[in-house]
Amino acid sequence: MATARRPRLIVAADADELARIAAERVMARLDACPGEIAICLAGGSSPKRLYQLLATPSWRGRIPWARVHWFIGDERFVPAGDALNNMALARAVLLDGNAPPANIHPIPTSAGNPDQSARSYERELQEFYGATRLDPSRPLFDLMLLGAGPDGHTASLFPGDPALDETARWVVAVPTANVAPFVPRVTLTLPALASCREMLFEIAGLDKRAILTRLLNGENLPATRARSIGETVWLVDRAALPEDFGD
Ligand code: 6PG
Repeated sequence: MATARRPRLIVAADADELARIAAERVMARLDACPGEIAICLAGGSSPKRLYQLLATPSWRGRIPWARVHWFIGDERFVPAGDALNNMALARAVLLDGNAPPANIHPIPTSAGNPDQSARSYERELQEFYGATRLDPSRPLFDLMLLGAGPDGHTASLFPGDPALDETARWVVAVPTANVAPFVPRVTLTLPALASCREMLFEIAGLDKRAILTRLLNGENLPATRARSIGETVWLVDRAALPEDFGD
């Protein structure tokens, strides 16, 4: 297993510049891969500006839609059309009308239970990957987008939850969420999140200052444990940085 490199910190002036830098990194990953591309999107609200920017004509026209496949790192176990559904936001803002429907891979939440959903998505990921074991020399994703919650969770891997220590499964159910929305979750596990050429965290805004301070201090939290086998980037804005940072 490739040794996890320390995250690279990139500081944007504000949320708009952060979205632009993130969009440039997405495009760099797309430009670097001539074949089929797999992007794993983040849930929550942080990636919305990025999705909106990528949906504008100048950016949308640069995306090779036919060969990009869009996945999601975690999902709330609510119907696909529910406002709490992570993939619903990406579809509404960016994917619908641009990505071929067959290239959009949501975590299924319309049938069964979270564990059945997790096993179904794991099968879908393995079918796309062409193997049931992750090869450190062949990442599953070209780009993994992530956020960090106020308790240091990422995807739906919450501090102290057994899902955090799962090493065999790629996708698991999380019956209890630490933070709102308090609905069952389905999440990729750390090995699956790590299987990417680049892991890009978006952490912006004053309300993220407390958790970013903890991450920068190296606290043992899911968002610090999540590392790419390739490059891990913490893309933050000045509002989220500790006031004395860099002094
Ligand atoms: C989710 C997300 C979660 C999110 C963080 C940050 O399903 O809630 O995947 O991990 O990325 O909680 O959320 P915000 O971007 O809304 O601050």
